[in-house]
Amino acid sequence: MAPLLSIRDLKTYFYTEAGVARSVDGVSFDIGQGETVGIVGESGCGKSVTALSILRLIQPPGRIEPGSRIEFEGKDLVTLGDEEMRHIRGNRISMIFQEPMSALNPVFSVGDQVAEVARIHAGLSKRKAFDRAVETLALTGMPAPEERAKQYPHQLSGGMRQRVLIAMALIMKPALVIADEPTTALDVTIQAQILDLLVHLQKEFGTSILMITHDLGVIAETTSRVIVMYAGEVVEEASVDELFAHPHHPYTEGLIHSMPHIGHDQERLNVIPGTVPAPTNWPHGCRFRERCPYSWDLPEREHPPLYDVGVNHTSRCHLAIEPERRNQPHPPLVVVEGVGAA
Ligand SMILES: Nc1ncnc2c1ncn2[C@@H]1O[C@H](COP(=O)(O)OP(=O)(O)OP(=O)(O)O)[C@@H](O)[C@H]1O
Ligand SMILES: [Mg+2]
Repeated sequence: MAPLLSIRDLKTYFYTEAGVARSVDGVSFDIGQGETVGIVGESGCGKSVTALSILRLIQPPGRIEPGSRIEFEGKDLVTLGDEEMRHIRGNRISMIFQEPMSALNPVFSVGDQVAEVARIHAGLSKRKAFDRAVETLALTGMPAPEERAKQYPHQLSGGMRQRVLIAMALIMKPALVIADEPTTALDVTIQAQILDLLVHLQKEFGTSILMITHDLGVIAETTSRVIVMYAGEVVEEASVDELFAHPHHPYTEGLIHSMPHIGHDQERLNVIPGTVPAPTNWPHGCRFRERCPYSWDLPEREHPPLYDVGVNHTSRCHLAIEPERRNQPHPPLVVVEGVGAA
């Protein structure tokens, strides 16, 4: 079966005064029907720009470069007309953003806001749309959905507001939901509830989910396949089990080692030394080399391709051809004291 979404060589550049920011720089991946795929990477790696590109919400000075392809249900979203794209955005692909408060309008009841989506995209009457909104809110586990629907965003907790956004994303039963850091703004218990809810809804409706996060813990709990992004590129892709059992790219290793471990040493956190370079100025060769414990002369000269390193497992690291370098002594990760892991 053809994948639901197939992205090939996606390049999204911003033409800024500081130069051309190559924020997404040749990204390719697929999402199958009913599949949950994660994108993980540090701040600035290009996760959100990838999501916004799929929905064609990139504004000038940004643009999707010619040659990029985003195929969804047999259509190329890069070249699709605006009218058709609006239809897809409401009906077939929806997005859940990080900050529920700013995504909601403070002067309308949450029920009206969920209903509005069905009014616009399904042409339902006010009454019918409101009924459907209440049903959808109930599906998200909103307590007393009928009463809650009449309330305003400020009358709800953060977790309930996130349920409202999930209801807005699901009311049209889209084929794909893109969740961009959907739980970052929530406290830990509510985070777990919202993630459970997304997994449950995905199973119930067979919706595909693209889960975007900087948190490998979220990936482990919700997704079956993971794409690791670094500096505008995919640097590793594998099933979740394979990625945790056999991480190949040193960046992935670093991300895994810097995951906080529940119940021990909450005050110390390993971090990958250095920061993501600026997208106006990606380093030549391997973009991770300045932060890499294994780097040698080849990564400086040559930009690594995505090597096959296992079954359905790829890694953009020259270690694939010189694996013995991994066994040589290398500097440890930086340990930061006093950083709360929660
Ligand atoms: N409108 C814009 N104009 C210029 N540069 C931009 C614009 N939007 C994003 N960028 C740049 O593109 C790069 C990738 O941004 P993006 O928002 O995709 O990162 P991210 O991986 O989602 O990070 P975070 O985890 O912080 O959300 C960043 O360096 C960012 O500054
Ligand atoms: Mg982001």
